[in-house]
Amino acid sequence: MSEIKKRIVVLASGSGTNLQAIIDAVKTGRLSYVDISAVISNKKDAFALHRAKSSGIETVFLDPKSFINNIDYDKKLVEVISSYSVDLIVLAGYMRILTDNFVNAFGNKIINIHPALLPDFGGKGMYGKHVHEAVLKSGREESGCTVHFVTTEVDSGPIIVQRKIPVIPGDTVESLSKRILKEEHKLLVEAIEKILVIPAKAGIQQN
Ligand code: GRF
Repeated sequence: MSEIKKRIVVLASGSGTNLQAIIDAVKTGRLSYVDISAVISNKKDAFALHRAKSSGIETVFLDPKSFINNIDYDKKLVEVISSYSVDLIVLAGYMRILTDNFVNAFGNKIINIHPALLPDFGGKGMYGKHVHEAVLKSGREESGCTVHFVTTEVDSGPIIVQRKIPVIPGDTVESLSKRILKEEHKLLVEAIEKILVIPAKAGIQQN
């Protein structure tokens, strides 16, 4: 009997190493129940789009310049994603702040990965190297990564999984971000499995 696949769409703006982790997990069978229906980006040259194409996954580039404002952009984004009838939307390094309309259109079907131990070091302006700079400046002895549900408040939704990573004396933004990124790849797959695969395997129908 063919498995009923759980459909996901991934939104990415950058290099797409988190997307690659999901692609690899589908290929190795860890996420055999998952079908990546499309990868969508706001950046035409996002390497994430190249990664998707190399794996035969449909890609969509939505150019912000083609829309008068965020509201219109996200209206189109809702329309595009709705056409895939997805079970989950994964933000994997997606560098646009989602409008309330978008978040409300998909409820608790959106997850995001953040390179710190939320709720600390999250929110407006806390992205990329800024996160690690703030952690190093704070003198904290540990940082980490978090996968959470997306709500209308940035980086504030219910936490799904989190992993702690030590800050090593002499760490730079580069060395810390590299160590955390490696763990993000594992954590994101774990979060998707927790939300989509385990219930599916147990025969629990998602609402
Ligand atoms: C990751 O560090 C993620 O936590 C953050 O953006 C980065 C994306 O990296 N949201 P990549 O594009 O998946 O390599």
